[in-house]
Amino acid sequence: MTENPQWALSRREFRAQKRVHNFNPGPAALPLPVLKEIQEEFLDFHGSGMSITEISHRSSLFEETIDSAIARTRRLLGLSDEYHVLFFQGGASLQFCMVPMNLSLPGRPVDYINTGLWSTKAIREARIQGKEVRIIATSEDKKFSYLPTEYTVDGQASYVHFTSNNTIVGTQWQRFPDGHGVPLISDMSSDFMSRPIDVTPFGLIYAGAQKNIGPAGVAMVIIREDMLERVPDNLPTMLRYTTASNTKSLFNTPPTFAIYVIGLVLRWLEETIGGLEEMEKINKEKASLLYEVIDKSEIYQGIVEHGSRSTMNVTFRLPNEKLGQRFLDEAIRNGFHALKGHRSVGGCRASLYNAVTLDSVRTLVAFMREFEEKSIRG
Ligand SMILES: Cc1ncc(COP(=O)(O)O)c(C=O)c1O
Repeated sequence: MTENPQWALSRREFRAQKRVHNFNPGPAALPLPVLKEIQEEFLDFHGSGMSITEISHRSSLFEETIDSAIARTRRLLGLSDEYHVLFFQGGASLQFCMVPMNLSLPGRPVDYINTGLWSTKAIREARIQGKEVRIIATSEDKKFSYLPTEYTVDGQASYVHFTSNNTIVGTQWQRFPDGHGVPLISDMSSDFMSRPIDVTPFGLIYAGAQKNIGPAGVAMVIIREDMLERVPDNLPTMLRYTTASNTKSLFNTPPTFAIYVIGLVLRWLEETIGGLEEMEKINKEKASLLYEVIDKSEIYQGIVEHGSRSTMNVTFRLPNEKLGQRFLDEAIRNGFHALKGHRSVGGCRASLYNAVTLDSVRTLVAFMREFEEKSIRG
């Protein structure tokens, strides 16, 4: 492939720091300044002579760490005192089962919108528990390539559950579903903290950390006070939201390193980026650069409907498998990592979470243009 000076320069820089343009869907890229900070203070955390992984979760040093991560979450999302910020192990997948276990009301259905594999898994966990699950809308008829607009919420429902961003196929709710007063519950794993949100219609929001806010090993849960009143007494201690809310997520040893990194990522988000409005602007710009190439292309074809497109996971195909494979091979050789689509969808996917830089996306776009030109010219 001929060298385009604009992105060849950037490629040299990446090689020099032995870093690639990382489009992983999760675990995913973390901000470089955060990684450097972790490296710098790893052997001696805040003058303790120990690393963060070697100190007690009951120490004042760790307490400051978790308190600061919670305070930053509150500020970034504009949370009132009504909301608790909690940390759980078990990933977003444990939340699929904890949500119905804790929050379904006796004799009342639980409503789900099915927009992909992760919603389907959440639904399965509610069904396993024998809950009366109603699928009030689904986009399964077209392989989840759009977000349904028509649904009726039963006023009797315990909650309405939806996935705010569908990581695999690349759709994202730009306007959240209307619960008509029924509490909304959302799996925001792959777009949490990527944009400002109005939390007031939400009873609970959960997100695995490993896409936008930190390393794997922890899920963040934002839960409204009134939801805690629903938690049945007969649940195992570790599976009750009230256990975490009563102990500030310190009932047992929490994933201390992951929580520490979340705190650093949130500080970067607040102090370097300037908050969620600014983050959203950058994320929109990154996504629109990529969608523009796809829309004007003769070889890249978007997988989902325009109105349902995600700013976090941009999915596309090439006209045939051979060209698709060549694209992926050349991408890897040129420092673009993890552009292969999920096995259930195929094609390509670029995950553009918060830590993926505008420069990485500009560089990718230049590479894609050049690849297209070359493949059309033969
Ligand atoms: C939207 C969504 N929900 C849930 C999950 C599962 O997360 P975990 O592996 O933390 O259980 C993922 C993982 O990719 C996801 O993208």
